[in-house]
Amino acid sequence: MKILVTGGAGYIGSHTANRLLQENFEVVVYDNLTTGFRAAVPEKATFVEGDVRDEAKLVEVLKSQKIDAVIHFAAKLNVKESTEKPLEYYENNTSGVLSMTKAMKAAGVKHIVFSSTAALFGDKVQDRSIVEDDAKAPLNPYGHSKLMSEQILKDTSDTGGISYCALRYFNVAGASDDGNNGQRTADAFHLIHLGVQAAVGKRKQLQLFGTDYPTPDGTCIRDYIHVEDLADIHLLAVKYLLKGGASNYFNCGYGFGYSVREVINTIKKVSGTDFPVIESERRPGDAASLVADSSKLKNQLGWQPKRANLELICRNAYEWEKKYNESR
Ligand SMILES: NC(=O)c1ccc[n+]([C@@H]2O[C@H](COP(=O)([O-])OP(=O)(O)OC[C@H]3O[C@@H](n4cnc5c(N)ncnc54)[C@H](O)[C@@H]3O)[C@@H](O)[C@H]2O)c1
Repeated sequence: MKILVTGGAGYIGSHTANRLLQENFEVVVYDNLTTGFRAAVPEKATFVEGDVRDEAKLVEVLKSQKIDAVIHFAAKLNVKESTEKPLEYYENNTSGVLSMTKAMKAAGVKHIVFSSTAALFGDKVQDRSIVEDDAKAPLNPYGHSKLMSEQILKDTSDTGGISYCALRYFNVAGASDDGNNGQRTADAFHLIHLGVQAAVGKRKQLQLFGTDYPTPDGTCIRDYIHVEDLADIHLLAVKYLLKGGASNYFNCGYGFGYSVREVINTIKKVSGTDFPVIESERRPGDAASLVADSSKLKNQLGWQPKRANLELICRNAYEWEKKYNESR
């Protein structure tokens, strides 16, 4: 079976491409390298440089490579930037899904796994874990661009043309167990990435936004999922669709969260460093707590997390950051 992995030169896409190859799938990575890295593409994968908004090129690649299913990671994902340049997000993310869906129909490719996000849910549910059918209330254009993408896939699927799985990731972190792959984007804004950068001296300090939230230690709580456990979920989802599974959507997280302070303390512990932490005001739009209910994923796809351990996530990320020097 041959899978087209858009965004496969990026952080989560490259981990998933590796995982697919380990399971003897053939992989074609399709990426425009805006935030991705050629060096992240596994050697055994075919690489095509291209943009997901280029529908004609997608049709050509889907047909000539005889693709059986698509895993669509390609997107822009900086929430703050999306509030400043919303049209770029609708164009890249939503139009990207539109052109991919049209290209799949033209080429007769029927299955797609889509990278969605917990940002769909906004901050409506903070006192319990979030289930898939909770109300959708994105707080920014990034979240809206993904919600609209899910709608495109649902409406197309309802007509019988395709089947899809939307995977709504919570906070993705960590690096591969063998230390050969991890977050390469220097200015990625995720807490654990910023924390390990501070631990290895690539940043002078770490900023902590908000210490007066209604949580046990006053800082925000998030559900951190190891990137390799997330790669496993993609494998399960694509196998499910290829076997004829109906369109579906799943929350991807562990079902428990950690506060920002707990994460910082864990990074300091695994790295043996004590970098400065600057406490600042809350950022607008940050919910106090966002935790996934992932029982649907476990029950319906049989997912079993293997790395649900904050120390392991932080250690893998730290070891990767120590040895990684950016090169495209
Ligand atoms: N990292 C997280 O915590 C997180 C959380 C929720 C959802 N997501 C989603 O996961 C996906 C992957 O995120 P990531 O963290 O690996 O980011 P990333 O920036 O490392 O990867 C995105 C990849 O897509 C490529 N790309 C972007 N626009 C493209 C286009 N128009 N055509 C072709 N390629 C394009 C980039 O070059 C890059 O390789 C995204 O869809 C993102 O919205 C990520």
